[in-house]
Amino acid sequence: MSLRSVGIIGTGKYVPERVLTNSDMEKLVETSDEWIVSRTGIKERRIAAEHEATSDLAFHAAEQALTAAGITAEQLDLIVVTTVTPDTTFPSTACLVQERLGAKRAAAFDLSAACSGFVYGLANASNFIAMGIYKYALVIGAECLSRITDYTDRNTCILFGDGAGAAVLGPVPEGRGFKSFVLGADGGGGELLKLEAGGSRMPASSETVQNKRHYIYMNGREVFKFAVRIMGSAAEEALAKAGKTKEDIDLLVPHQANTRIIHAALDRLNLPEEKCMINLPRYANTSAASIPLALAEAVEEGRVREGDTILLVGFGGGLTWSASVIEW
Ligand SMILES: CC(C)(COP(=O)(O)OP(=O)(O)OC[C@H]1O[C@@H](n2cnc3c(N)ncnc32)[C@H](O)[C@@H]1OP(=O)(O)O)[C@@H](O)C(=O)NCCC(=O)NCCS
Repeated sequence: MSLRSVGIIGTGKYVPERVLTNSDMEKLVETSDEWIVSRTGIKERRIAAEHEATSDLAFHAAEQALTAAGITAEQLDLIVVTTVTPDTTFPSTACLVQERLGAKRAAAFDLSAACSGFVYGLANASNFIAMGIYKYALVIGAECLSRITDYTDRNTCILFGDGAGAAVLGPVPEGRGFKSFVLGADGGGGELLKLEAGGSRMPASSETVQNKRHYIYMNGREVFKFAVRIMGSAAEEALAKAGKTKEDIDLLVPHQANTRIIHAALDRLNLPEEKCMINLPRYANTSAASIPLALAEAVEEGRVREGDTILLVGFGGGLTWSASVIEW
């Protein structure tokens, strides 16, 4: 069976207006701008307005991606929303976006792979197009992490923000588009990064609320070690699968969690910082939204040109990781 070449034909992004700076964080917990910047690289993050939920952020990013791709919502065959902060357990956030866009023909579902979700979504959706089952798919990474963040816990609250990024996938000229995917998981590390309550194991109760079990729990040090190791190995594996070398990379778009983790990846890949998209200082970690948000901004800034080799790589809760090489 011959497979069709598939690539990203349009990108979009949306961030809420409200900015929470490091000096705002200093008023909430015992921390300092100096500590946050030196340990993480983060300067500020966006916070969704009270009336905004994940599907609202996703919708705005999707509209922009559709315009960039030059197709209408009616032409979409599939919508995948990757998120750990869906509006509701069900219906899926993808169904809410489908309705709001008027994408009447599109199948829609959510995908949960935490911060690795967007590349998991790309791999999933691109297969339908490669096989000729669908022509156009919309993959969105969107999060309202502020809704699951404990703003009394300085270990986590400084790290996260809200936002959305989207990509329209479609057929591209032969030889272009996605060259490789690496998707991985290690369920044994699930305890390091989790949100315990509200599911079937620990249904919501007044006790779970009192005990703060509806917030992100993270073992920062262990996640850091895992992240440094896996970013390098996933990136190298994706390059090898694509038949490329480190020298071929025009732009690295990594998951935006911590500049120290990003720099460790740059060192391992022998890449200068100019070849890396970093918008973490302005948005913090937006989980599944982080890579598409960075990619959309790179495109906006003219840092992605036709024929460029782009490497996406991320890691997150699960534990999970994912990487992809794209010939733009
Ligand atoms: C969370 C993280 C920034 C902490 O940085 P670190 O250099 O490892 O810091 P440590 O864990 O060694 O903590 C050092 C001290 O700073 C303190 N600290 C933690 N958060 C702080 C804050 N916001 N302000 C000031 N001090 C803080 C800790 O309490 C600790 O104090 P102690 O030694 O008295 O216990 C880092 O571990 C990290 O980025 N981990 C990965 C997180 C991640 O990427 N998560 C998302 C995955 S998708």
